[in-house]
Amino acid sequence: MQRTRVHNFSISLDGFAAGEPQSFETPFGHAGQRLHQWMMATRFWSEQGSDGVDNAFAVRHSDGIGAEIMGANKFGPPGWADDPSWRGWWGENPPFHTPVYVLTQHERPPLEMEGGNVFHFLKASPAEALATAKQAAGELDVRIGGGATVVRDFLAAGLIDHLHLVVVPIVLGRGARLWYGLEEVQEGFDVESVGSPSGVTHLTFTRRDTAS
Ligand SMILES: NC(=O)c1ccc[n+]([C@@H]2O[C@H](COP(=O)([O-])OP(=O)(O)OC[C@H]3O[C@@H](n4cnc5c(N)ncnc54)[C@H](OP(=O)(O)O)[C@@H]3O)[C@@H](O)[C@H]2O)c1
Repeated sequence: MQRTRVHNFSISLDGFAAGEPQSFETPFGHAGQRLHQWMMATRFWSEQGSDGVDNAFAVRHSDGIGAEIMGANKFGPPGWADDPSWRGWWGENPPFHTPVYVLTQHERPPLEMEGGNVFHFLKASPAEALATAKQAAGELDVRIGGGATVVRDFLAAGLIDHLHLVVVPIVLGRGARLWYGLEEVQEGFDVESVGSPSGVTHLTFTRRDTAS
């Protein structure tokens, strides 16, 4: 069965997935790199990285994924839509290697990059975007890549089958909130947690009717 998955989505203890303000110089605002230090220390990120618990979770990011959906604020800093030369943060060969659907009010023609990456710009409801991405993914799964607004909207719409969160032991106090309005969202999921020696906690939410 084709599933909709979130991986390596990192939040602070108080539930923020990015700090503020987001800008070209500070994509994660005042959070800096702190939300992703755990991942940057893994072999998934670099050959010199560690091969422990964090890596075991991190590598699942790309496994069996045929398309990604991301939000406009993940694709670029505020104002990118006014810059026709903006091609995302990731250089000419982004790490997705699938079609990527960027949810935005500012649609533009598809952007074909190297390595099988094609960015499509889409103004659509979560359900409509997911139907499009599922078709592009064939029999593979669709990853919801973030940021917080998009993951929150897909959770609220009941469209997420598997959610891997990484709780980083920092308090941000402000930023892009994941949980706002999602009261009791854990109902309907099997929730598991694994503590890592790095200090982060991996949480998985697996929808009960899709758990295998
Ligand atoms: N912690 C993590 O693991 C993680 C992962 C990914 C990203 N991030 C970070 O999270 C931050 C971005 O998160 P965010 O919550 O600010 O924003 P986001 O979820 O990336 O994007 C939200 C924006 O996408 C557009 N959008 C969303 N749904 C739409 C729809 N149905 N139709 C059309 N447009 C739609 C809207 O932008 P417009 O109206 O402007 O078009 C909306 O403001 C960045 O700092 C990013 O680096 C963190």
